[in-house]
Parts: sequence; C-alpha cells; structure tokens
Amino acid sequence: MRKPIIAGNWKMNKTPAEAAQLVTELAPLVADASCDVVVCTPAVNFAAVAEAIKGTNIKLGAQNMHWKESGAYTGELSAAMLKACGVEYVVLGHSERRQYFGETDATVNLRTVAAVKAGLTPIVCVGEKKEEREAGYTNALVVYQTLIALTGLTAEEVAKKVVIAYEPVWAIGTGLTATDEQANETIGVIREGIRSVYGDAADEVRIQYGGSMNPKNAKGLMAQPEIDGGLIGGASLKAEDFSKVVGFDK
Ligand code: PGA
Repeated sequence: MRKPIIAGNWKMNKTPAEAAQLVTELAPLVADASCDVVVCTPAVNFAAVAEAIKGTNIKLGAQNMHWKESGAYTGELSAAMLKACGVEYVVLGHSERRQYFGETDATVNLRTVAAVKAGLTPIVCVGEKKEEREAGYTNALVVYQTLIALTGLTAEEVAKKVVIAYEPVWAIGTGLTATDEQANETIGVIREGIRSVYGDAADEVRIQYGGSMNPKNAKGLMAQPEIDGGLIGGASLKAEDFSKVVGFDK
C-alpha cells in the first residue's frame, strides 16, 4: 500500500507573514489527514513556515535546489542549506523551471541524485506539452524523463526516497485537467517504465498527478489506482481549498 502524498506548490507566491498565516489556518484543517501533507514554499518563507508547522503533520518543501554542496553558484541553494531550515521535500524539474529557466533532463538528474544522497525527498516532475500529446509520444517522453531523472539511484532509493509528479504541461495553471483515466493511464505507463529498470520498486514509488487539481476533481483523480497523490498549484494558496484536496474531497 502506497501512502498518498498531497503537496502544495506555492510557486512565486506569499511573503513570510502570509505564508505563516496560510499554514496556521491550514494546520487544524488537515490535522486528521490520511495522507502526507507538504507545502513547498519560496525559500524566503522557510523560517516562518518551519516555525508555524511545529507540532503539526505538515512537512516543509522547497521548489528547487542545486546539486553541488557549495561554491560559486549565485542565486542557488544547496541541499544542506535546505535541510538546515527544516526542509524535507524538494520539487525538482518542474515544467516552469524547464520552460523558463533552461532546466534539462540532465540537470534534473543531478539535482535528484544530490537530493536523495542528502536525505531530502525529491518530487520529480515530468510531463508532456500539448503538441507532444497530440503527436502521440506522451508515453515515450514521460518514461524517458523519469528514467533519466532517476539514473544513479538504487532500486531501494527509487522505492522509498523519491516521489514522481506527472504533470501534463497543458494542464498546469490552465484549468484544464487530464481526465481521471488519462492521468491514471499515463502514471501507469511511468510505473511500468520504472519497473523495466528497478523491478518491484515500481510498486512502492509514489506517483502524483498535478495540473489544475482542486477540491472538485480531487475525488475522481484520487480514486484511480495508479494515482498516489497530487502536486497542487493554484488550489494550494487558500487553506480551505488545499485542505479539501488533502481530504480528497470525500
Ligand atoms: P496548478 O499547478 O495546480 O496551478 O495547475 C500545478 C503545478 O504546477 O504543480
């Protein structure tokens, strides 16, 4: 049995005071959650959120990280820095990083391996663009992205230390969601791709869906057997909405 994981990706939203307020409102609403609950906040909010989630079941996540331990990498953050702030999860290879900041499968791999070796849990994002789905190579692409990202990890690490987020790019922030069946099918394809290299680790690794997931569609998506959670953008910015997704809205 895979424990579901619902993570909020706040993107470039919230100041420290706003972040603390959001998690303070959220905490009682998700206290009885049956899944893991994570908020991935901008780094300037780590201290405020870490303080506000003390004694709750909410875990702290980051939105990116560099693979080197330290050095001349202006603007970057290392795994050790994140961990020192109480971060346990880190989103890697988000499509916005790939699209706007030149992130590649190779650098996603470096970041993923560095995160796992440092004891952080990466949430590795993969997904196809609209034209790639229309051209018929979604399955090949998401398997490729996933296997490149995981290269260098052991089967044990893939099983226990990694989360994958399948996020069709055309569904992110657009209000368009993959249908329950589309999301389930593609996640199943990713899982079989993982099986081809890592064997039974495929049965343990958690694979989320992301892309306009919200209180209305969470139930249908989470009822699908392959879908182990969600990576939530827009709907994670309001405590009530996010708490409803965490409750898979009944
Ligand atoms: P969205 O974002 O829920 O706003 O579509 C999801 C994501 O980018 O992780």
